Amino acid sequence: MAIRNIREYGEEVLTKKSKEVTEMTPRTRELIGDMLETMYEANGIGLAAPQVGILKRIVVIDTTGQDPYVLVNPRIVESSGEQTGQEGCLSVPGKCGIVTRPNYVKVVALDADMKPFELEATELLARAVCHELDHLDGHLYVEKVEGELQNVTYEEDEER
Ligand code: NI
Repeated sequence: MAIRNIREYGEEVLTKKSKEVTEMTPRTRELIGDMLETMYEANGIGLAAPQVGILKRIVVIDTTGQDPYVLVNPRIVESSGEQTGQEGCLSVPGKCGIVTRPNYVKVVALDADMKPFELEATELLARAVCHELDHLDGHLYVEKVEGELQNVTYEEDEER
């Protein structure tokens, strides 16, 4: 596995729509491993493939630091409620902003073995799911920020 270069706000690849994964190849498996390693190294709680320059519908999320989710071709099939809170992104370093998201989402996705599963997420995990899935359609949280983007100190910059 290897740490990959995280693409930053302003790079075109972050504005593009990612493609569905049709088969799990060794190369894609390696990408997933690298995404997990890159996310942990950057102290992030989520990372989407376009953030490492690959336009595939893959995200990794770990809000607890011990239980990573790998979501291939994820799709939100249900959402409800609302939460408003601070959000950041590894592709927009040093910044954060207030974003309103659903408080509950149900996602269907494939795992790293291309087996379908369902994930029900609330609160921070729901926020992370929404944030990462937006990346797959070329959207960044900065488009949804209420008010101004703010500068964060390193300690506060934990929601990505
Ligand atoms: Ni992000």
